[in-house]
Amino acid sequence: MKVGFIGAGNMGRAIANGLKKSGVCKSEELFCISASGSGAARMAAATGATVSESKKELIEQSDVIILAFKPQHLESISEEEANAAKGKIVISVLAGRTLDSMKSVFGDGPSNLVRVMPNTPSQIGKGVSTFCFLKEPSDDETSTTETVLGSLGTAYAVEESQLHIATVINGCGPAFYFRIVQLIAEIADEHGLNKDLAAKLACETGIGSLELLNQSESDPQELIDEVVSPNGVTHALLTSLNTNGMPALMRTATKDAVDRSIELSRKA
Ligand SMILES: NC(=O)c1ccc[n+]([C@@H]2O[C@H](COP(=O)([O-])OP(=O)(O)OC[C@H]3O[C@@H](n4cnc5c(N)ncnc54)[C@H](OP(=O)(O)O)[C@@H]3O)[C@@H](O)[C@H]2O)c1
Repeated sequence: MKVGFIGAGNMGRAIANGLKKSGVCKSEELFCISASGSGAARMAAATGATVSESKKELIEQSDVIILAFKPQHLESISEEEANAAKGKIVISVLAGRTLDSMKSVFGDGPSNLVRVMPNTPSQIGKGVSTFCFLKEPSDDETSTTETVLGSLGTAYAVEESQLHIATVINGCGPAFYFRIVQLIAEIADEHGLNKDLAAKLACETGIGSLELLNQSESDPQELIDEVVSPNGVTHALLTSLNTNGMPALMRTATKDAVDRSIELSRKA
């Protein structure tokens, strides 16, 4: 499968590396272009991708075109470049840019348009992406999209209207978990445990616990019940979190983030 990247920064490189490492694309099937050429040169050095002469050439060379530049540059795609995408799949990772805004740039030519919210663990093949199509996809379009996104980790189809809340969960999620580890380390330090060791304990406990949840048929409450004993230490921790407002705080923070996602996609 020939895949072309318009934009070759952090996200573009993560996807290209994933496609190469997973064997979905050979070097000669990868094409890229970037604004100054520096991102494209880095991608070419890391994956063996060919740096295309122009966006039009890249689109003509590729079966699947991945838009991985900044969201405000979507309209820099010219009509001639858009026409070259006739019959191809265009996948966008541009945060906040709707399928309608992609359609107003690419028109009806592409076989389908896909809007994706990836996340940064994609850099190590542990990403989670959420995505939606403009039109009901054919089996081929579904399988191509799942193959491309699968090279980053896992991928789940959602309705475009659900992408705001999905963005908060899988797009912002890594920053949320990093913040939790950072907070635990700071607090542990106040209790006399070395910050770096505390961060390791928190990180590895998080990985193990979430992996257990993922592999288990139990729901979170059943796994909580396995840890809690009446009036024990975990009971004290969870009771304090609940009575001191954690559920309300999570609701407010999630609503603020969803509102911001809606606002940004309206502005875009
Ligand atoms: N990073 C994340 O966690 C994340 C998560 C979800 C979605 N996204 C989305 O992914 C997209 C890319 O983010 P990023 O973090 O990879 O950005 P980045 O590292 O800043 O890379 C942007 C790339 O776009 C190129 N570029 C800029 N203007 C261009 C234009 N007009 N035409 C073609 N290429 C152009 C740049 O070229 P040069 O290299 O030559 O400067 C660079 O290669 C964004 O739309 C963002 O919303 C990112």
